[in-house]
Amino acid sequence: GSVGKDGYRHYMEKELHEHPVVIGQTLQRLIDPATRRVMMPDLPFDLASLPRAVVTACGSAFYAGLVGRYWLEAVAGLPVDIDVASELRYRDPPLTAGGLGLLISQSGETADTLAALRGMRARGQHILSVLNVEQSTMARESDVVLGTVAGPEISVASTKAFTAQLSVLACLTIAIGRARGTLSEAREQELVTELLDLPSRANEVFDQGQAIREMAAVVAQARDVLYLGRGSSFPVAMEGALKLKEVSYIHAEAYAAGEMKHGPISLIDNTVPIVATLPSGRLFEKTLSNLQEARARGGRLLVFTDTKGAPRLRDLAEIVVALPTVSEFTAPVLQTIPVQMLAYEVALLKGTDVDQPRNLAKSVTVE
Ligand code: G6P
Repeated sequence: GSVGKDGYRHYMEKELHEHPVVIGQTLQRLIDPATRRVMMPDLPFDLASLPRAVVTACGSAFYAGLVGRYWLEAVAGLPVDIDVASELRYRDPPLTAGGLGLLISQSGETADTLAALRGMRARGQHILSVLNVEQSTMARESDVVLGTVAGPEISVASTKAFTAQLSVLACLTIAIGRARGTLSEAREQELVTELLDLPSRANEVFDQGQAIREMAAVVAQARDVLYLGRGSSFPVAMEGALKLKEVSYIHAEAYAAGEMKHGPISLIDNTVPIVATLPSGRLFEKTLSNLQEARARGGRLLVFTDTKGAPRLRDLAEIVVALPTVSEFTAPVLQTIPVQMLAYEVALLKGTDVDQPRNLAKSVTVE
């Protein structure tokens, strides 16, 4: 192919380092920096009159959609249903015509997502797709395409496409919130400012490489790893667990931190490391108390937090990665980068085929 590794050992490593640029490029298309407002392309439907959204995708793109659900509900006040495409396509959910069918896909070719798109179109939904490959089957069959400007993604395990998808979903949320009247102009400008700050903050994440490699040394010894998060950081935990499974072949499971006591707490001992994504903010104390419960049962805590949350975790956790402190709105975008980096570092230690993990395909075009 024409895309090289630019001196990186693997495409996955190279693409991880592209997060800051990709976030910036994607936001640039959708934000007017002068007015600090979101600009949407001309839409063949009215964002203000959408009754609800049905979001669907597969793999990492689905987890991006889950973050989008937290945003669309809380920021834009839009009711959201979401499911993986392989389920949604056979669920036959009753849908009122005129709703939003929101598809997310890097390739634009995933068979289940495409089938879900067609099913939603048949039920009278407006189809808006968030796609990285803008010349794709899904692009042709959508009413609107919002492009993720991530460039070609070669590593089978998705990395940079994810933060690009989140960048688009954040802007879409703002546009819908503005249309529905849940966001004032001032609040929109605040959120936009937070988004525009992300590329520089994302660059700072790479300063944490040493601590992430220390975490990787712990994770690489484990047979099972539990990922925990709450709110919009819960899908980040899911993405971390998926990435670890994909590239290191270590079993990982993500749980909503508050749900831990309903099952996985029985697994906790010093052989099952716990990776927590825990930015400061509204849910910090809640997750912290879940981590204290885990610690009390001998769990080894590896925590991704921010500079504001870090002091509360120093005595509790074995390793703390303190990311730049950003708003609750943008925190999941930033938190994604180190959880993906962790999976990469574990894969290096395990000596797996990082860019081409066994049994996986970049694009799953058959059901
Ligand atoms: C495959 C890839 C994943 C990707 C998923 C969805 O499983 O290995 O990295 O997240 O497909 O692909 P899409 O192209 O629809 O985003």
